[in-house]
Amino acid sequence: MKHFINTEDMTRADLDELLALSEKVAANPEKYAEALKGKVVATIFFEPSTRTRLSFESAILRTGAGLISTENANESSSAGKKSETIEDTVRMLSGYADAIVMRHPANDSATKAVSVSTVPILNGGSGSFAHPTQSLLDAFTIKRARGSLDNVKIAFCGDLKLGRTANSLIKLLSKYDGTQVWALSTPGMELTPDVVDFMKKAKIPYTVCKSFEDIPQNVDAIYQTRFQKERVTDGMVVQDSSLVITPKVMQRFSAVTLVMHPLPRVDEICTTFDSDPRAIYFEQAHNGVPTRMAVLLKLLGGDK
Ligand code: NCD
Repeated sequence: MKHFINTEDMTRADLDELLALSEKVAANPEKYAEALKGKVVATIFFEPSTRTRLSFESAILRTGAGLISTENANESSSAGKKSETIEDTVRMLSGYADAIVMRHPANDSATKAVSVSTVPILNGGSGSFAHPTQSLLDAFTIKRARGSLDNVKIAFCGDLKLGRTANSLIKLLSKYDGTQVWALSTPGMELTPDVVDFMKKAKIPYTVCKSFEDIPQNVDAIYQTRFQKERVTDGMVVQDSSLVITPKVMQRFSAVTLVMHPLPRVDEICTTFDSDPRAIYFEQAHNGVPTRMAVLLKLLGGDK
């Protein structure tokens, strides 16, 4: 594995190795405190980010690597000033850093970066296309809770069209046996045909739901998502979502059905649900640190 670009191209062996390393890192973070000493990692974000950027930066510092960072690359880098291409930005950064973490609104941004980079590219989110480290931390969260990633029953909810987290996680779970997917989307925000096609080819049973009542009571996880208003383009009709997770909605689900969310939450999970033991979203966000440490260690050879 040279880069970390999307979950579709990974193998089950790659994923198992990264998840096992994430567990080791979580159990004994001090052991890795100097693993990447002398390396420099660049983070360059062309879209807003709190969790992905800060957990990556925490992961970089916790492995002993140095960090160079631009938080609002659209304004603070030459890409914003002079419309520098992704390729030129990455060519240049390849000479400054030993790995590049990049988030960009274009679906093909990570692929473009890989085409010219001489150092590992870690995709921190590319348009609505992929968010592989989010999926890794999601998988880590599910695996920790239920022990295995085989036979996962998962319901995705909300904006499944413009978001990148649901399709990335579906592609990751396709590497495991027996995955089943339910989708309860905001009207007009259904999973895109290419993702539905992907599930068909991967033989993942997929059920479209109209309400929370259509989701089986014993699903392992309900993966709620935020409406991606920043990606709405002219002419797109969007309706308000009434798909809010509340303590009442969750009454019918099993005691072990996890409620996940990549965050940030707007109002699609009621804060009164936060104290329920099934509300795992903040723990899920915290899992971003060991999993991103594992990816950095793997790509930069600090896992030995
Ligand atoms: C997600 C993203 O950026 O795709 N956030 C994150 O990385 N934790 C989801 C979102 O912004 O809604």
